[in-house]
Amino acid sequence: MQQLLAPIEAFLKCATPDSWIREAVKPENLATLLIDHCNCELKAAQTGMFFVRRYAVDRESGQQMLDWAKPYEQFVYCKDRDIEHFLNRDSKKNDFTTGLVAKADFGHGPELIAKMVRLIKEEFHHFEQVLEIMHERGIPYRNMRAGRYAKGMMKMVRTHEPAALIDKLIIGAFIEARSCERFAKLAPHLDEELNKFYVSLLRSEARHYQDYLNLAEVIAGEDIGDRIELIAEHEAHLISSIDEEFNFHSGAPTGV
Ligand SMILES: [Fe+2]
Ligand SMILES: [Fe+2]
Repeated sequence: MQQLLAPIEAFLKCATPDSWIREAVKPENLATLLIDHCNCELKAAQTGMFFVRRYAVDRESGQQMLDWAKPYEQFVYCKDRDIEHFLNRDSKKNDFTTGLVAKADFGHGPELIAKMVRLIKEEFHHFEQVLEIMHERGIPYRNMRAGRYAKGMMKMVRTHEPAALIDKLIIGAFIEARSCERFAKLAPHLDEELNKFYVSLLRSEARHYQDYLNLAEVIAGEDIGDRIELIAEHEAHLISSIDEEFNFHSGAPTGV
């Protein structure tokens, strides 16, 4: 575990504040934490889809991706959702086999597609895993308002291409790395089932961070150290400064 975490801790400019952990382990916050985590897994899958559809594939392949996402999005956006039906129906809904066609005018299509398809598959799987844990514990799924963190990170995106793509990939790396760091820091304080589950997520989330970073470096084709540094400082500020709301990626809680 320490081997997985060492590069992540070196990449992030600050650790999760202890005050956030103290807040997160309060029994009354468990439901919020799980629901927001569940939302984050779906958003992570949607982010992967965005990169593939926006940059790497043609319209027809884009449609294949939308079809893949459909059962998940229907569940999430439909008000009278039926969780049992969703969890039990069509166990093959995440068996996407890629017949995606890379756009000829985008230089790193096959690489981006391969990494993102694997990531999306894992994020959909995590989404269902969190949902199952919530269901066993009688915690219903609900949509949550986007917190300050993701919106704050997206403010760093430059408006012209390919700079916008590079920034979004770097931001993807930070969000994955921060999630991984939080899973590891939270795990020892949780009950046995959640502890095991959070530790089991570390390996794939650590790879997701690495995949995003590698894609940013390869696609940029030049040193992006300065950009990473700038985004790292911004990220650390969002994590260590006071945040009015509590959620999976929130900053330091108020009044602690
Ligand atoms: Fe995940
Ligand atoms: Fe991830």
